[in-house]
Amino acid sequence: MTMEPYRQIRGEFCVEEVPDPGGLVVFGASGDLVHRKTLPALFSLFSKRLLPDNFYVLGYARSALSEEDFRAGVQQSLEEHAPDARPERIEQFLTHCYYQQGDYQTPGDFEQLGTRLRELDTRHETGGSHVFYLATPPNVFGAIARQLSEAGLIRAGQDQAPYGRLLVEKPFGHDLDSARALDAELRAVLDESQIYRIDHYLGKVTVQNLLMFRFANAIFEPLWNRQYIDYVQITVAETVGVEERGGYFEQAGLLRDMVQNHLLQMLALVAMEPPLSFGADRVRDERVKLLRSLRPFAAETLDQVLVRGQYARGEIEGRPVSGYREEDRVAEDSRRETFVAAKVLIDNWRWEGVPFYLRVGKRLPRRVSEIVVVFKPVPHSIFGPLDTEELRPNVLVFNVQPEEGIALTIQAKNPGPRLCMSALQMNFTYQGVFGVPVPEAYERLLVDCMLGDQTLFVRSEEMEAAWALLMPILEAWEGHGAPEAYPAGSWGPLGAERLLERDGREWLAPGSAL
Ligand code: BG6
Repeated sequence: MTMEPYRQIRGEFCVEEVPDPGGLVVFGASGDLVHRKTLPALFSLFSKRLLPDNFYVLGYARSALSEEDFRAGVQQSLEEHAPDARPERIEQFLTHCYYQQGDYQTPGDFEQLGTRLRELDTRHETGGSHVFYLATPPNVFGAIARQLSEAGLIRAGQDQAPYGRLLVEKPFGHDLDSARALDAELRAVLDESQIYRIDHYLGKVTVQNLLMFRFANAIFEPLWNRQYIDYVQITVAETVGVEERGGYFEQAGLLRDMVQNHLLQMLALVAMEPPLSFGADRVRDERVKLLRSLRPFAAETLDQVLVRGQYARGEIEGRPVSGYREEDRVAEDSRRETFVAAKVLIDNWRWEGVPFYLRVGKRLPRRVSEIVVVFKPVPHSIFGPLDTEELRPNVLVFNVQPEEGIALTIQAKNPGPRLCMSALQMNFTYQGVFGVPVPEAYERLLVDCMLGDQTLFVRSEEMEAAWALLMPILEAWEGHGAPEAYPAGSWGPLGAERLLERDGREWLAPGSAL
């Protein structure tokens, strides 16, 4: 039974600024991510007039493309990824797009880049502010930062207009040492206040909403602790496999690809203490503190709290799909994990004894990401013969995707016999209330970087704390054991079920609350 969706009952309070003039230089501009995510997000901002008029995008890559080729490529991605876009708007957007061919390590190419930037800054009257966006493979992140600095295109301390900021894609390192080494390379030429490490999950509306929900409402926070919350489940399920990224995945695996960043960041927002303010560093202070209070994993007890899986052949939405080991550029005997389930504990006053169960995988039955907070049962049942166990506990679900929203289940009386109740859901969906599509995470992140707001970006210490937590797992897995196979289209290996069964619990069916 579903109640009417929520209505917006009072005028909105919105602070949306348009960034100051500036140029965005996209390294790795011919890559898939840029065409799938970045350009459509920029175009959407442009269409909503959330980009300044004095703005340009300069694509930079090794591919020998003419400016016309690049613009044709931009046009094609927009037609594909923004199908409702008006052709004249696309035309206008293209007049802000440029391309420069160059290598990532050659000083002469960066001098030429400098000449080009000065020309474009004058033409678009930007005042010389630049975001340098690293969407290349990570092995050249450090080199690009160094070249930019040596060519005089960025300098430390330049975090206000005319600013020079570095927007860095993931993966940020392969383990703690390599992440620290990369960080040292970036911080040799820039201040932390100029480095914007992307975790695109932080740009998702429902993830951001966790902070509003928790700290702009007085009724939930008093319950947000071990006295009232029994456990929390966070699921990020994808139906896709590794697609054309087999080579990358063989190196990375799912723990690095999704847990080190997206899952731990969501966990941090659910569990962190109230920040002093909504300021970037105050929010990030609390995220770091939380990440540092996660109970360390120990090699000896890993199998009690962690499960890794790998998809075998199976069916997704009625269609047969290959197993991971049959994917392109994947070894026939690969031991890389495509699924992880973990029980995470937080060693602090608020959360002592409350398990956070994480589950993330590829080739699962549905694309759904959600955070489920399960409250404790009532302490005593007055509804005999029903005992407390039979009165279903309240469950709060944050649906991150695909249908962004929040749902709360409560017990309520049914019409009819005296003792007849059931669990109802109070649902709120963004689409239902606001009637407009939820903006892509990249829109928020790009605009925030141009505005100089680092709240939704990962600070150096957060990145380190997350790697430090996972190192014992990576070390234990390297060369030892193997993931448990699960058929594509299932909810992962049996081990994931057992992980919860040991605690007398089960995974709640994802998507069931919306
Ligand atoms: C990326 C991972 O960070 O996130 C991918 O590298 C994954 O493997 C993707 O597919 C999922 O993002 P989203 O926004 O589609 O849930």
